[in-house]
Amino acid sequence: MKDLDELIQNLTLEEKAGLCQGASFWFTKEMEKYEIPGIMMTDGPHGLRKQTEETDHLGVNKSIPATCFPSAAAIANSWDQELVREIGEALGEECLQEEVSVLLGPGANIKRSPLCGRNFEYFSEDPYLSSQMAKSHIIGVQSKGVGTSLKHFAMNNQETRRMTVNVSADERTMREIYLASFEAAVKEAKPWTIMGAYNKVNGEYCCESHHLLREILREEWGYEGVVVSDWGAANDQPGGIEEGFDLRMPYAGEAYTEELIKAVEEGKLSEERLDETVKRILTMAKKGQENKRPGSVYDARAHHELAVRAAAASAVLLKNECGVLPLDKKEKIAVIGGFAKNVRYQGGGSSHVIPTFHRELTEVLTQDYPEIAFSFARGYRLKKDEVDEDFVAEALEKVRSADKAVVLIGLPDGWESEGFDRKHLRIPSNQIDLLGRLKATGKPVIALLFAGAPVEMPWIDTVDALYAMYTGGQGVAEAMVQLLYGISSPCGKLAETYPMELAHTPCSLTFPQKENAVYEEGIFVGYRYYDRKAFPVRFPFGHGLSYTQWEYSDLKIDRKQMLDAEEAVVSLSVRNVGDREGKEVVQLYIRDVESSVPRPEKELKGFVKVSCKPGEKKTVQFRLNKRSFAFWHQEMGDWYAESGEYEILAGASSRDIRLKERIQVESTAKWKKHYDAFITMGELMELPEAQPIIGAMMSSYQMPQSMSEEEKQRLLEDEDSTEEIAMDYAAMGMDMPLIKVAAMSGGAFGAEQIAGILETINKA
Ligand code: BGC
Repeated sequence: MKDLDELIQNLTLEEKAGLCQGASFWFTKEMEKYEIPGIMMTDGPHGLRKQTEETDHLGVNKSIPATCFPSAAAIANSWDQELVREIGEALGEECLQEEVSVLLGPGANIKRSPLCGRNFEYFSEDPYLSSQMAKSHIIGVQSKGVGTSLKHFAMNNQETRRMTVNVSADERTMREIYLASFEAAVKEAKPWTIMGAYNKVNGEYCCESHHLLREILREEWGYEGVVVSDWGAANDQPGGIEEGFDLRMPYAGEAYTEELIKAVEEGKLSEERLDETVKRILTMAKKGQENKRPGSVYDARAHHELAVRAAAASAVLLKNECGVLPLDKKEKIAVIGGFAKNVRYQGGGSSHVIPTFHRELTEVLTQDYPEIAFSFARGYRLKKDEVDEDFVAEALEKVRSADKAVVLIGLPDGWESEGFDRKHLRIPSNQIDLLGRLKATGKPVIALLFAGAPVEMPWIDTVDALYAMYTGGQGVAEAMVQLLYGISSPCGKLAETYPMELAHTPCSLTFPQKENAVYEEGIFVGYRYYDRKAFPVRFPFGHGLSYTQWEYSDLKIDRKQMLDAEEAVVSLSVRNVGDREGKEVVQLYIRDVESSVPRPEKELKGFVKVSCKPGEKKTVQFRLNKRSFAFWHQEMGDWYAESGEYEILAGASSRDIRLKERIQVESTAKWKKHYDAFITMGELMELPEAQPIIGAMMSSYQMPQSMSEEEKQRLLEDEDSTEEIAMDYAAMGMDMPLIKVAAMSGGAFGAEQIAGILETINKA
């Protein structure tokens, strides 16, 4: 392709409009005459779903085999950016072999409710962790010359009516939680494309939102890549292009090209904006073409080994009573559960991958570990809720003649998928029943849970050990054996909270709303909510056990105070005080000691994963800057790190804080609030420049008429009551707007005086 500006000059309006939608389900438009290539964009995110025959966006038709890595919900538990990058590189290599130029993913939507059917495809309830994971994924894939599509931008947090629902959220909520989950990934990893979500946000469809696309994505974040629609998400494309949207996918018919032509002809869409869009699409097509590596072949075996390693790093050891794990190969185990022969290792929908290799747990045990004695029984019917007594009897018999029971439980395939939300957080009742009966045998019960999101665990006491395996990808069965026998050390930590019950979750009262999803809980999502509500949780955000133990020490900050324009360096040491090699995820949270707005108890602002041999100690470092302390100031329209004291909390989970320190932060924000006549007396009293006027005002304020002279006198004479009354008046007075005080001043203060006061304070 020639110089793009020159090329665009030569294109007719019809040709330019034609480039703004796909040529087919997965390809962009090719124009031979100008040597413009058509490139393939396809799913994603955790494996390649390249269809060569019938196409669809719901995981119905076949795709060619590709490595199925752990999905986002699983890999986020690894808190291992290096590993995520490595997986990204492997995905990039698979795309190169299959001549796919853009892999549709990763998904950085926040897990607002554990009910969202697509949570298995998203990283976390925490925006910092989510954006760091998304960033690493993008950097990995794109290092191979293959593009990504960060999705679904934005606020796509439910599947119910995902194509039409309007999300209502305030700016602070969007900035601190939902957009923050994309922000670092956009700015630091520069994905080739960003996928506009189906839903509306505050009344505008995502693919045409002035606020999301023009103001935030293009102008504030400086995003220069292509904004592509989720499949079928574009509505008013001319309006969208004005706002910075680009490519409609998939091909939807010539009427849409004509719509663009007409919009330009009628002056509804400027040709300049259309040219910008065309340039972005051509830049992507050019990159895709130039980076093609015909004949490139990936090492499927090596990728499978990586998938096994990743599955092991994604598993979280939630419970391990009396050190029942790891197992000893000499112990006889009874493997129970249909998942042992039909494991759930991915979710349903557009991310569904046909794996290159995949073995079930029983196969792995038989083929790779002949020295391990095990028996097997199904225990429950996989696709049903009802108890099958014959299955149970068989399971009990097997467990009674074994040393320990290893039982596989979780959500069957059809219970969790793209396209619909879960209705409850339970696992099937036949599984719960089985757990109780296994427990009654008196044999230790070790459970492995397969679910892409939290489940309720009223059955927790029936298991001695529990692993959350999530949707661990094609290597999950091998990883399970490695973890159970301590060949791999568990090192995952939860990227989301496991609540005690659905009723405790932040939006349980309303989720999912069909027409208008109002995000009433605001910024209080995930642990931000459970902490502020002081709810007990089943397992907190960041929790995960190891076969070894860790000691935290020496928390140091390189300064006692800092300006918000400076950086502080925090360091601390962790020592492996157990007798096995292991990895620990050190988490750093920040708490604003006293804030002018409601803030979470703590917020994650850094994490490091360290690997130590027994006895080994390592020092880790974190860098904190303004953003680490800031909240989104609605009136200022900016991030604001309020002056004051902050606590630096380092720990092994959000509810296992091991070390604390304090730092003083000084704001350099120049912003000054502009007051009107509704300024309260309390606010006024805090302004030094207002002090001289306040005294005069207060004395002219009349006590409520309803109080009789007699009563007033009695209260004034009784010392205790007088104080109480005085305090009440003060508290009431603090909240009185200036304009109302004037209205009750019996004419002493009027419009002129108010104007004078406002002039004084606003000028100052
Ligand atoms: C999904 C996207 C996916 C696209 C193409 C949509 O329904 O929401 O995540 O990339 O289909 O399959």
